[in-house]
Amino acid sequence: MKHILRAILLSIVVGLAAAMDNLSTAERSAETCGDPDDTLAWYRLYNANLVTYSYTTDVPLVTTLILGNGYALQTIMGMVFVTQEESTVPCYFLSSPALEDNFVTINATERDVAIANGYALLPALQTYIYPSAICGSIPMYRLYKSAQTLNFFTTSESERLSAISSGGFSDLGIAGYVLPAGVAASC
Ligand SMILES: *[C@@H]1O[C@H](CO)[C@@H](O)[C@H](O)[C@H]1NC(C)=O
Ligand SMILES: *[C@@H]1O[C@H](CO)[C@@H](O)[C@H](O)[C@H]1NC(C)=O
Repeated sequence: MKHILRAILLSIVVGLAAAMDNLSTAERSAETCGDPDDTLAWYRLYNANLVTYSYTTDVPLVTTLILGNGYALQTIMGMVFVTQEESTVPCYFLSSPALEDNFVTINATERDVAIANGYALLPALQTYIYPSAICGSIPMYRLYKSAQTLNFFTTSESERLSAISSGGFSDLGIAGYVLPAGVAASC
């Protein structure tokens, strides 16, 4: 009888601990995400003359790139932070006018290698994104066409597949995770 009671008590304690563990996991997940209301739309632009993509949340810069620099607006990649929030990491923006290439990376080693190879780090274009699929974020794919030293990023699975099958790009995997376009509260 004593053994049975002890076994019952033990199972209650274990169950309680598991339930509390779940509770704290749920509480933590809300706390460890950035506030979607703080995100901005991340625009992708393309310059067909330079064969260069660019990415920015800065609307006046989008206008300048279109009106003065031969870029066309292509899409909104997703929603990103411009200051660091819970669980996000810096997404560095690297630019090489000589190679006519821009790319982003969350990998600090790759950033440093690129700088050593003549790319400039542009802090004004740095964003903050998730390093894994948390907080409702979606993958941002990276593609590369070595013939043109052309980095290309997309959150569209169909665009990714057609870049590989007919655009001459190779698949460099997932560069990071952004919130899908339109999640921020409209204001
Ligand atoms: C804890 O969560 C998991 C999955 O979210 C669930 O399968 C499990 O039953 C939960 N445990 C308790 C004690 O609530
Ligand atoms: C970061 O970049 C370096 C240099 O390109 C590479 O060797 C390394 O595998 C990368 N790390 C990750 C986690 O992708």
